[in-house]
Amino acid sequence: MRIVVTGGAGFIGSHVADAALAAGHEVLVVDDLSSGKRHNVPAGARFEQLDIRKAEPLLAAFRAFKPEVISHQAAQTSVSVSTREPLRDAEVNVLGSLNVMEAALSVGAGRLVFASTGGAIYGEIADGRRAREEDPALPLSPYAVSKLAVEGYMRAMSVDRGLVYTVLRYANVYGPRQDPHGEAGVVAIFAQRLQAKLPIQINAKRELGDAGCIRDYVYVSDVVRANLAALEGTLVEPVINICTGEETSTAMLADQLERHFGRASERRAGPRRPGDVERSVLDPVRCRKAIGDATSLAQGLAQTAAWFVAQR
Ligand SMILES: NC(=O)c1ccc[n+]([C@@H]2O[C@H](COP(=O)([O-])OP(=O)(O)OC[C@H]3O[C@@H](n4cnc5c(N)ncnc54)[C@H](O)[C@@H]3O)[C@@H](O)[C@H]2O)c1
Repeated sequence: MRIVVTGGAGFIGSHVADAALAAGHEVLVVDDLSSGKRHNVPAGARFEQLDIRKAEPLLAAFRAFKPEVISHQAAQTSVSVSTREPLRDAEVNVLGSLNVMEAALSVGAGRLVFASTGGAIYGEIADGRRAREEDPALPLSPYAVSKLAVEGYMRAMSVDRGLVYTVLRYANVYGPRQDPHGEAGVVAIFAQRLQAKLPIQINAKRELGDAGCIRDYVYVSDVVRANLAALEGTLVEPVINICTGEETSTAMLADQLERHFGRASERRAGPRRPGDVERSVLDPVRCRKAIGDATSLAQGLAQTAAWFVAQR
């Protein structure tokens, strides 16, 4: 198949592009390199440096390549940035995504796979609960609002114009190639700081000095398997959580990473970050059915730590 991967110079998109090529597909990566890196784009993929906010060049690239399916990963990905600059977030995440949908429809692509957020879309998840796909979305940040808006547009365009889509609601994704220099991606940030012997900061869940937010961490390979299954048509759920269902606090994550890097860190307590939910854990039943067992946190962190070590 011919597959467009938007955001394919970024963390998740570049792994999706790798896996699609390995499975024998042709890949066009579309990325403006605003946070992605040219060297993340696999050698076997074509590359167009394009901003998804610009409809015409995007459409021209789609018309030239004639994709059969699209994995739409490009986004403004930071919750914090979205709270400071909601307009910029919406321009990329809502209007840019609408351009991707229009381009997909105009070339008659068979399916659009969308990287949504399970981590943020459900809002707060009460202790002891895991968010299921049919639970109401209660976004608490502009980022989550923009992802939910795109889900709604996709549903509307499927009714109106026959868009075929799959929404993958990722939990907190981690793994090799995640950028440690952004504001998101705590595993990458901690890994880099542990290696550099710098202090690490546990941002508060509620009170300064607590163990930090509770998250459901999912390894990037599992996210890639879900993307491939959706692109190839074996995962046909319209909306699905991509997660493990395991809960981990930021402090627990730091403990595990310290073991993998064989060193303790100086820890600092940071304030609660605007837009962050306190607890987010997702129900993994559909995900397990679709792609099998997820990688354990211990195994995923071991592979991630090994990658960070190899990079230095
Ligand atoms: N990493 C996570 O934990 C997580 C969780 C839930 C959802 N997601 C979603 O998964 C997708 C991939 O995230 P990631 O972690 O790989 O982030 P990333 O920042 O590594 O990748 C995003 C890519 O999109 C590109 N991009 C940004 N704006 C663009 C624009 N206007 N035009 C073209 N390209 C543009 C960037 O250059 C980058 O390469 C995003 O849609 C993100 O919202 C990620």
